[in-house]
Amino acid sequence: MHEANRRYWDTATPWWRELDEEDWRRCPGQPSIAFEGDALDMIDEFVGPLGGKPVCVLGSGDNYAAFALAGLGAVVTSVDISEQRLRVAEDRAGILGLDIDFVRSDAADLKSIRDAQYELVCSTNGFFVWIADLIRLYSEISRILKPGGYYICYDIHPFMRPWKDQTTIEMEKPYFQTGPIQSGEQGQTTYEFHWTLGDIINSLLKSGLVLRRILETTAQDSRFWQGASYGKGTDDSLLDWNTNPRAGLPSWLTIVAQRPSV
Ligand SMILES: C[S@@+](CC[C@H](N)C(=O)[O-])C[C@H]1O[C@@H](n2cnc3c(N)ncnc32)[C@H](O)[C@@H]1O
Repeated sequence: MHEANRRYWDTATPWWRELDEEDWRRCPGQPSIAFEGDALDMIDEFVGPLGGKPVCVLGSGDNYAAFALAGLGAVVTSVDISEQRLRVAEDRAGILGLDIDFVRSDAADLKSIRDAQYELVCSTNGFFVWIADLIRLYSEISRILKPGGYYICYDIHPFMRPWKDQTTIEMEKPYFQTGPIQSGEQGQTTYEFHWTLGDIINSLLKSGLVLRRILETTAQDSRFWQGASYGKGTDDSLLDWNTNPRAGLPSWLTIVAQRPSV
């Protein structure tokens, strides 16, 4: 299933590149645009100043997080399963003058990365949905973190998953129907996993990570509700749960987990 997803992301890369022609340029100087759900505040609180620290971004995609963290002085490794997405990111890093190490790998099988390398591992928006085995993912994260290092991520909150995409509330499927959910885009079959909060947290704990903080936050920009990944939303009424009942639920799940020191 990961291999099918890789083919989809390789095929879809030109589409994603055109969707986002400009904002990536601002990430190094304005890192907040790369992080939702107060994840950047969590990085600041738990990891502190990033200057010179080794950091890994998994499922790096548009590389907003990698560009932002490099702009903050971190020594960044950017990992994605898609060769094509990494090529776009490498070109952009060159334009931005950022020295980032790009590694093509399945995040659930990071054999090219040695143990205990990083003080911080990050993943961002829309990553968990591509992972068929969370315990394998988190075990790899635990392995590549230095003892005492942090995994800090934000992603779509699982409570967002069961609804039909509209402003009235109507369920599309039960919360507990986690997948694989097979669909097709751009001529490629994809497999998504709509993990529950319990799946995510229990897998983290079973992988030996210790939970330090959970944040559940709402979207700050209406683009979240308008199906847009980039640019500014155009309908702030969608941020009000009276108009858009799903806005009364958390949009983002932010997690701070730590590899124990001993
Ligand atoms: C929706 S993006 C999320 C990343 C980033 N926040 C963004 O918006 O571009 C999903 C990214 O995860 C990558 N991906 C999917 N499955 C993966 C896997 N098993 N290991 C590593 N990366 C994966 C895809 O290639 C894609 O670049």
